[in-house]
Amino acid sequence: MNVLGVETSCDETAVSICSNGKIVSSIVASQQNHSKFGGVVPEVASRMHEKLLLTTMKKCLDDSKISKNQIDAIAVTIGPGLMGALLTGVSFAKGLSVGLNIPLIGVNHMEAHLFSNFIEYPDLEFPFLCLLVSGGHTQIWKVKDFRDYILLGDTRDDAAGEAFDKGARLLGLSYPGGIEIEKQSKNGNSNKYKFPLALYNSKEIEFSFSGLKSSLLRFSQKFNGKIPKNIISDVAASYQKAIVDSLLNKLKLAEEKTKISTIVIGGGVAANQSLRKKTSIIFENSRVLFPSLQLCTDNAAMIAFLGEKLIKKGFKSNISVGVYPNLKLNDALK
Ligand code: KG4
Ligand code: ZN
Repeated sequence: MNVLGVETSCDETAVSICSNGKIVSSIVASQQNHSKFGGVVPEVASRMHEKLLLTTMKKCLDDSKISKNQIDAIAVTIGPGLMGALLTGVSFAKGLSVGLNIPLIGVNHMEAHLFSNFIEYPDLEFPFLCLLVSGGHTQIWKVKDFRDYILLGDTRDDAAGEAFDKGARLLGLSYPGGIEIEKQSKNGNSNKYKFPLALYNSKEIEFSFSGLKSSLLRFSQKFNGKIPKNIISDVAASYQKAIVDSLLNKLKLAEEKTKISTIVIGGGVAANQSLRKKTSIIFENSRVLFPSLQLCTDNAAMIAFLGEKLIKKGFKSNISVGVYPNLKLNDALK
């Protein structure tokens, strides 16, 4: 079975083909237009998706050597994400579904991040813990089985990715901030400055990153909003350390509470090398899985992969399926 996946929830226009659990092609056109604004501009993202979708699909078909008539189903992200951006992908997918007379399956983007681990680790077994860390989410889930997910912890305010992006802006770095802070941190001393680790000693599994961002803002105000170039690496490394340590502290707590020792990490922040390294050290006696970098950040491979799984389980969306900007992981159950 060949499933074509379409992903347009934010600023990545992506198309992929999954054939019987194997990704045969995955094309991601990252929109460069947002960096000068320091964040994604929704209207710009929608317009860029419109522009890029057809060529991205053509590239994907060429790359896979599969013709459009050999596609058996279309999978598309229906949420969460930006309303206009989601609409471009869903409209495109509906057109393909009707034109090719093949089924359409709407996919929850967060569930796709969660399942992206099965692409590279097909032997992954339930139950496992999943830390989902992206631009909009910072959650720890107990994944008991397919569509049997229990939310163990969430953020009270900002997501970890948002903390990276907002921090980068305060440091005068471009968007997306995570990778920029990571680059700067490589030459920095992460113990040079102490940033607050909110809720660190609480025994609840919950995160908070807004205080961290405010403390960086106050730090930058000491320099009239312009942190000197010669200390940026140390500040970035210390700020990154605060985010990573906060995440791992609560992940450890979740492991202790549930006694589950298989841990998977998904979402864009999972691309962070410091997070990856520290996780392997802290959880040296557990099985820790990270998707490869191209599967951490937004992509359509995870959409095609989960889409195929759902179709094979008998799920199918109606052609009138809508978009759901605030879709939650558990909403997939409905
Ligand atoms: O999963 P994703 O691509 O999109 C959403 O679903 O939100 O995650 C994007 C987030 C952004 O906040 C970005 O700064 C962060 O992931 N990110 C990183 C890294 N690469 C992307 N954060 C830390 N280190 C990275 N290397
Ligand atoms: Zn994502």
